[in-house]
Amino acid sequence: MKKTIQANQLKVGMYVHLEKAWFQHPFLSSSFRIESEKQIAKIVDRGIQSVIIDPEKSIIPKERIKSTADSRKLTGQKQESADTLPPSKEQLQIHQAMEEIVHDRKIPSEEKARVVQEMSIVMMNNLMEKPTAANIQQVKKTIAKIVDLIIHNNSITSHLVQITSHDFNTYAHSVTVGLLGVSLSKVLFWNSDKHDLHELGAGFFLHDIGKVRVDAAIINKPGKLTEEEMDIIRKHPSFGYQVLRDTDQLTDECKEITLQHHERNDGSGYPRRLRGNDIHLYAKICAIADVYEALTAERPYKLPMKPFEALRLMKTEMSHHFQKDLFDRFVLLFANG
Ligand SMILES: [Fe+2]
Ligand SMILES: [Fe+2]
Repeated sequence: MKKTIQANQLKVGMYVHLEKAWFQHPFLSSSFRIESEKQIAKIVDRGIQSVIIDPEKSIIPKERIKSTADSRKLTGQKQESADTLPPSKEQLQIHQAMEEIVHDRKIPSEEKARVVQEMSIVMMNNLMEKPTAANIQQVKKTIAKIVDLIIHNNSITSHLVQITSHDFNTYAHSVTVGLLGVSLSKVLFWNSDKHDLHELGAGFFLHDIGKVRVDAAIINKPGKLTEEEMDIIRKHPSFGYQVLRDTDQLTDECKEITLQHHERNDGSGYPRRLRGNDIHLYAKICAIADVYEALTAERPYKLPMKPFEALRLMKTEMSHHFQKDLFDRFVLLFANG
């Protein structure tokens, strides 16, 4: 349960929510974990007197972890393996490399967008091979870096939305959908502090995580799928929801992205044939990016569509699948690019 405390009572490790929009304070997001005493000083200096903290997202300081471990030893209690498993070495390396690239001012925007996209594909490939709780947690941190880059750099955003994938694998698809989903959320939610773009970014990147539980032969089948195979594919949103529930690293809202990203506004989607307002706003955003990527990406059995052609097809023949105002805003991303 969240609680309000005085800003001067803040401690490193606490997950804090500032009641101001992100552009009204010197932090990248209104919700974040306090990493240093400097950040606390910044909050206090800014004249912010009280803050909301989320104990569930706060990290227990090292002394307490140690004393918990000691008391477990004493009581003979077993530690849960998911807590103790570290993220893979590859994920740590990707995170470090991503951090360096994001902060390197010498790299031109276009080049940066390309490298971030390529590195993200490696990250998602690795994650889908080992979707453990620790890896999901690590990937979330890397995605947060990408989200910050998109939030603060408009020219990166315009380069990122131009990128279309030439790979036809799930991880390249996930990256494009992730980047487009964050870019659309940025413009939709720019003046609101009710949406945590870091969490949301993780939700978009991981929307197809359920495909790890579908036979790879079906996922990678180059030709048309049989009805039976389609039925199996249609289970991936529910599988994804289960993966995220079992690993428990994303918010409930992000789990809804995974579960509902194939629902359509007119009720013709799957798995639950939800319609209109019954579909979560975040899942609707994801659905637009998802269909756009599927149309513009190259596949063994079809030629890729040009961005303009894909947007026109979505508008003329699929408009009832999407919420109109969200789709219109999505189209504008390309006009600005
Ligand atoms: Fe999907
Ligand atoms: Fe997808």
